[in-house]
Amino acid sequence: MINTIERHFPAYKGELKKLYGFKKNYLFLDLTLGDGGHTEEALEAGCRVVSFDIDIEAIKRAVSFVPEEFSPLIFESDNVSVPAPKDFSWIIIRGNFIKVGEFAKKLELPKFDGIMVDLGPSQFQILSPERGFSFNTDEPLDMRLTKDLGVTAADLLAVLNEGELVELFNLADEPFAKPLARIIAKQRTISPIRTTRQLADLVYRVKKGRPGKIHPATKVFMALRMAVNLERENINLLLPQLPGLLVKDGFMGIISFHSGEDKLVKEFIKKEEERGVLSAINEKPIEPSKSELSISKRTRSAKLRIAKKNN
Ligand SMILES: C[S@@+](CC[C@H](N)C(=O)[O-])C[C@H]1O[C@@H](n2cnc3c(N)ncnc32)[C@H](O)[C@@H]1O
Repeated sequence: MINTIERHFPAYKGELKKLYGFKKNYLFLDLTLGDGGHTEEALEAGCRVVSFDIDIEAIKRAVSFVPEEFSPLIFESDNVSVPAPKDFSWIIIRGNFIKVGEFAKKLELPKFDGIMVDLGPSQFQILSPERGFSFNTDEPLDMRLTKDLGVTAADLLAVLNEGELVELFNLADEPFAKPLARIIAKQRTISPIRTTRQLADLVYRVKKGRPGKIHPATKVFMALRMAVNLERENINLLLPQLPGLLVKDGFMGIISFHSGEDKLVKEFIKKEEERGVLSAINEKPIEPSKSELSISKRTRSAKLRIAKKNN
């Protein structure tokens, strides 16, 4: 079943207690539950936690991984209408984190001591067969984190014109954006590009198998995933809501895996510093520790920025 895929190893695993100063009854908002590693760390430290995830499969997995003693109260986004019990210890909300302000109001949640946003898909989502995130297997090019989204990666490859495809690939800093857009526009007049293998083969053709530090198709797949799931748009809608959800001196931390996302976070924190709302805790993003890098290669591109709410 879904648990045949190994548990996601979250970036900064084991470091949250120190970074946030977790203590008993600390109120923690984990906006990206995933496999529940960060949430579990908070629960184990005695925090009360509200977790979000857009993907119901991710929620099922997190619940199966987190020790049974922490039994969550689960809300679907369309049944968030009544106040949450005041003495909750763990609430999970299945929905898009851009609705966090609205849901916090409906559930009458108190302000949080700390917030975590760990962007991007989890290893489970990338490795799940049939979800279309992986260039290592042949699957339909889907890439949606939730079926609530209407447009798949295959749809984008079918409808975007060549110029729009260049823009899309530039999102992930793909250096071969133009020749890739050209070959896709040409290929789809012959037959539609519907699978991960078809797309990966086109990338190999353009790059002529050039070896690099990363797999040749990594950036193309990343760009599609970002566009399908409106990742940049979601970050831009989420960030302005976060300071209002924090208590004075509360912390918000955002982990990104792509320089474009990190730039959005950096600029947001800078703007809020100028308005006196936030203070950046770190000028440069916090890099994962050496011991963490030795366990998980994926976290090598992680960047964590933390800011404190001023008043
Ligand atoms: C990198 S994983 C988080 C891993 C997690 N920190 C852990 O310890 O396992 C990101 C998670 O955020 C979820 N996610 C991405 N965008 C989201 C959004 N807009 N709203 C809610 N959840 C989202 C994904 O479904 C995924 O499960």
